[in-house]
Amino acid sequence: MPVFITLEGIDGSGKSLHFRLLVEYLRSKEYDFIATREPGGTPLGERIRELLLDPAYPMTVHSEAFLYAAARSELTLKVIWPALRAGRNVVSDRYVDSSLAYQAFGRGLPPEFVAAINEMGTGGLKPHRTILLDLPVEVAMERKAAGPRDRMEQMDAEFFERVRAGYLELAAAEPRRVKVVDATRPVEVVQAEIRRLVEEIWPRPRRDGSGPGA
Ligand SMILES: Nc1ncnc2c1ncn2[C@@H]1O[C@H](COP(=O)(O)OP(=O)(O)OP(=O)(O)O)[C@@H](O)[C@H]1O
Ligand SMILES: [Mg+2]
Repeated sequence: MPVFITLEGIDGSGKSLHFRLLVEYLRSKEYDFIATREPGGTPLGERIRELLLDPAYPMTVHSEAFLYAAARSELTLKVIWPALRAGRNVVSDRYVDSSLAYQAFGRGLPPEFVAAINEMGTGGLKPHRTILLDLPVEVAMERKAAGPRDRMEQMDAEFFERVRAGYLELAAAEPRRVKVVDATRPVEVVQAEIRRLVEEIWPRPRRDGSGPGA
């Protein structure tokens, strides 16, 4: 059985950095998988990503939730499900927990609304394991301090406090799926824990070379 593994956390928690390091590691082991990111991962999804992150387009919280769900539906039905069905593992930088944390806990939309549009758009796909990079909002904001901010990153600390609390609530509700990793520690320490959590559920790779390449 292939596995679907996601990385989550507030902006600046280190998802993209650790995702890159994880992908390099999995490739070095010649494991079979595909890597995706959200929002995006398909041609239409990448266009939706541009709209979502562009400060030139203020939007209602509902539009925001629908656009994230639309990009996720494209990615899930066209890329993730076909990969899983073909026996390939999938790792993703963000997935549905981001919408629950940001659009429900952060923006204040009803969680059941956010869950419903995503379940409809994805056929109810849930990750087998989600690694939540957790750290205080101030630390994440300091790490992101340099460089221009996209539309989501322009939100204030209180917004990210709600998102962080939301993520921790999701982890508490599903402790078997969502593993909380202390992301304040040095990169190597955090990455080692991520690799351990991934390999704990990673299927034994086929050594006969009969599977599709990574
Ligand atoms: N453990 C760490 N210690 C120190 N700095 C770190 C650590 N993890 C990540 N960083 C740095 O923090 C910054 C933000 O990391 P990154 O861009 O990976 O976060 P992200 O979670 O992907 O953010 P976003 O949600 O905005 O995409 C980067 O400059 C990264 O190098
Ligand atoms: Mg990132």
